[in-house]
Parts: sequence; C-alpha cells; structure tokens
Amino acid sequence: MSAMLINGVELSKTIRSKVSLKTQELKNKGITPGLAVIIVGENPASQVYVRNKVKACEEVGFFSSLDKYSSDISESELLVHIEKLNLNPKIHGILVQLPLPEHINSSRVIEAIDPSKDVDGFHISSAGALVKGIPGFWPCTPFGCIKMLESINYDLKGKHAVVIGRSHIVGKPMALMLLDKNATVTICHSATVNLKAITLQADVIVAAVGKINILTKDMVKPGAVVLDVGMNRDSQGKLCGDVDFEGVSEIASYITPVPGGVGPMTITMLLQNTLDSAEKNSN
Ligand code: GUN
Repeated sequence: MSAMLINGVELSKTIRSKVSLKTQELKNKGITPGLAVIIVGENPASQVYVRNKVKACEEVGFFSSLDKYSSDISESELLVHIEKLNLNPKIHGILVQLPLPEHINSSRVIEAIDPSKDVDGFHISSAGALVKGIPGFWPCTPFGCIKMLESINYDLKGKHAVVIGRSHIVGKPMALMLLDKNATVTICHSATVNLKAITLQADVIVAAVGKINILTKDMVKPGAVVLDVGMNRDSQGKLCGDVDFEGVSEIASYITPVPGGVGPMTITMLLQNTLDSAEKNSN
C-alpha cells in the first residue's frame, strides 16, 4: 500500500478562505474579529510563531495586536496587561506564547485570561469543558488533527485511536477529542511498556512526542491512518516529524507529511477559534 497524503497546506487554505468570508460578513455588521498576541523574551522559535500568527490574522482580515515584553517583566505587570485585554471589546482572543520565562508562573498567567477569549484553549475552564464534552475552545493543534480526519471523511466511531504523547497542549486534549468522536482511545507515553504491541492494534495513530522515528513501519497495522504532530530537526538540520515517513507510508492508508501536514493547521484553528469567539460576541 502507498498512503495518501493529508495535505495540511491545502486544507488550511480551504478553511482560511471560509474564515475570510465569514470575517467579511461580520465586518459588514460592524464587528472585526480581534486577536491579541503576547510574547515575553527573545526565544527565536516563539518569535517566528507569533509573527506567523499575526500575519495569518492580517490575511483573513482580522484586527491583531502583538505585544512584546522583555524577559524581565514581572508576573504582576503581565497580569495587569491581560486584564486590560480582557476588558477590551475589540479583542475576541488572547494568546500568550509559551514558554514564558522561569520566574513567571505560566498557569497563573493562562488562568488570568477571560475564558471567553481563550482561543488557544489552554485555560482550565476550556480543558474542563473538553473533559465534560460541553462546548468550549479546543486547543488548536489537536483540533487541527480532528479537522484533518474530517477532511478524509473518516468516521472515528468505534475505531481504536492510539495517541503517543501526553502533553497538555497535544496528547491529552487529542485523546479527549477522539473520545468525543466516539473512538476507543489509548494514550501511550514514556513509561508505556511495549508500545509496538499497542500501536499495531490502532486504526488511527497520532504521534506527538517530539522524537524522531518514534513510529516505524513495523509498528503500524496495514491501512491505519497516521497523523504526525512532531516538529524535529534531524542531524542535517532538516525539519522532520516523529514518524518514519518513508517506511510508514508503505503501510498506512493516509499519512500527514512534515512539513506541510499538521503544522499549518495549528494557526488555521487559532483563526477559526478567534472567529467563533467574535461571532458569539455578535449575537
Ligand atoms: N508554544 C508552542 N505552541 C504553542 C501554542 O500553540 N500556543 C501558545 N500560546 N504557545 C505555544
């Protein structure tokens, strides 16, 4: 078998053009979706991410602001700034780029965001809503994975989905979203014994560990769908995922490439969440 690609660039274009259209409709009613992005410090990867987020906002017609703070800002100063954004009616989404410097308590900062503006889906009340299966903002990367499965009309009901990784940003929310779609879900992690025995049973595998080649051809059932959330650099500095793409694509029915797979979907779902927040505001 040679796997079909799920192309995150193309799917992102389709979703973003729908977001643009809806944005225009909202603007006609006098509402411009607004996203506030906060970055603290000089982390080079974070700087690239936030630039891309702001650029994506411009492309779909959102209002956006980018507030850059030096790494010696105090936690209380940051909290004051978030409170201002909470009260600003032009802002429908607030995103604090992680990681924050060590002297700042990330949880306290995230919990200070008004849950109705938590478009990253990291607030405890968004996490609680996901656990309870009630409406709320879903974290963007796993939400993007769900959209990728929907794009191939994949019905998760009764399927065995295996998530490798248990991070707050991807693994855990991913497992809950798959459960919400009626899959039978297994979460594997660094202490899992005999990972291969579990992945071989999977109809869907989401690899979200941050380790090159955590999933190889011998670990995949023929016809399985494989989503690769990994963003790693190999010894030559080339961007690659967690999955041995060459080998696994001989076995899987569908696979996401890196780059060009899940990556672009994260910002796309951030735009979708911000639009949804602005729409709620307009009703
Ligand atoms: N750092 C790495 N990924 C993310 C993300 O999706 N959102 C935020 N806020 N920070 C991140």
